[in-house]
Amino acid sequence: MPEPGRFARLWPGLLVSAALGALAVLLGEVPVLEARGINPLTIAIILGMLAGNSVYPAIAGRAEPGVVVARQRLLRVGVVLYGFRLTLQDIDQVGWQGVLVDALMVTSTFVLSYQVGTRWLRLDRALAMLVGAGSAICGAAAVLAAEPLVRGKPEQVSVAVAGVVIFGTLSMFLYPGLGNYAGRLGWTSINQHETQQRASEAQAQQLLAQFAGKSVEDLRNDPQALVVGRNLFANNCAMCHGSDAHGNPGFPDLTDADWLYGGSAEQVEATIAGGRNGVMIPWQAALGGDGVENLVAYVLSLSGRTVPAGDVAAGKQLFETNCVACHGTDARGNQAIGAPNLTDHTWLYGGSVDAVRASIANGRQGLMPAQLDRLGAVRVKLLAAYVLSLGAGANSGTASP
Ligand code: HEC
Ligand code: HEC
Repeated sequence: MPEPGRFARLWPGLLVSAALGALAVLLGEVPVLEARGINPLTIAIILGMLAGNSVYPAIAGRAEPGVVVARQRLLRVGVVLYGFRLTLQDIDQVGWQGVLVDALMVTSTFVLSYQVGTRWLRLDRALAMLVGAGSAICGAAAVLAAEPLVRGKPEQVSVAVAGVVIFGTLSMFLYPGLGNYAGRLGWTSINQHETQQRASEAQAQQLLAQFAGKSVEDLRNDPQALVVGRNLFANNCAMCHGSDAHGNPGFPDLTDADWLYGGSAEQVEATIAGGRNGVMIPWQAALGGDGVENLVAYVLSLSGRTVPAGDVAAGKQLFETNCVACHGTDARGNQAIGAPNLTDHTWLYGGSVDAVRASIANGRQGLMPAQLDRLGAVRVKLLAAYVLSLGAGANSGTASP
């Protein structure tokens, strides 16, 4: 605890520092600045430079002792606390390679600045070290934190801070790394990401080239092609069809012999390439609750089930008027439009009374997204071969029109 007399000397400077700090934090929340990645730290440094060169000299006599404490002790504590935000978890995330790369970057930048500074530019040792610390670590704050260690003179600190701030700002405009802003040298992080993607796409194309000339049937018997197909499936299809391809309600099982759109090589390839969109019209408004209930009873009777409510004969009539156009006179479906077979025990949307009632009353709209533009023809063929290898074989189950 500082004795009262000492505190009385310190508080004007501490108050000035705290006020500038609070102002910087407030300004840091201004959307225009925030959006440009200008953080309170940078703002505080600019505010400090402005104040130091305008109003501060007038109050320096009273404020200096407190400002010195803020600049040296408090700042060092701040830098340490800031460092703690780099938690063990961060280190865990980047891994020891990341820590090693960081350590190498920091050390080599510092050593290089020091060498270039003292040997070529003939700078004073302390100034070279301050500039080195500022460039290697986090900028102006690092300069200030290093000052007591290096025992730099105040004007050296100012030169080092100004250098770090000016060159840091310049580099923001040259290599901004601010998302998509191109910068004067045309480098952006997105751009770099795309270049890397193009490089890995080129590698993938080399791998795919060996399968290019082959038919789906050939690929289906080629173990290597099936391995590639399985990987493609895991990355592009499993989220809807399940990693085992057994499907989910609304997403068909691809391992059975029951095909909405047909199970020949051409049909499966066409499904994957162009996508599909099955449209089942809602009937509640047109046929009313009773009509729907009768249809549920009739549809379930087709696979041998009886339902307490609903009139099967009345349902049959409604079916013949409204449903056969798509599901066929025998209700065995139509692969041209993806209308399911309603006479078997395979249900796209589930076979419970509630699920079937919901399908009829509210309609359904299954969407299989087209893959040709995304993945290219060779990957589509590999996927078709993989899907066909899952055991379902060629056409069966659902009757063709
Ligand atoms: C966004 C979810 C989604 C993704 C991703 C998806 N599918 Fe589908 N797929 C569906 C739906 C929904 C259907 C049924 C379409 C319908 O009801 O008309 C379907 C239908 C199919 C069919 C037709 C099945 C049949 O019985 O005729 C095949 C084959 C198929 N998908 C393969 C794939 C492959 C291979 C991929 C990966 C490239 C894939 N799907 C990715 C949702 C998806
Ligand atoms: C315009 C063509 C069309 C008409 C008319 C039509 N459906 Fe459908 N229906 C479909 C299609 C396509 C699907 C599959 C929807 C999907 O893929 O999302 C389907 C799905 C269904 C399902 C769900 C099947 C399952 O496996 O989960 C039931 C039940 C059904 N229809 C019953 C009927 C009944 C009853 C009628 C007459 C009142 C009818 N449909 C009229 C095209 C039609």
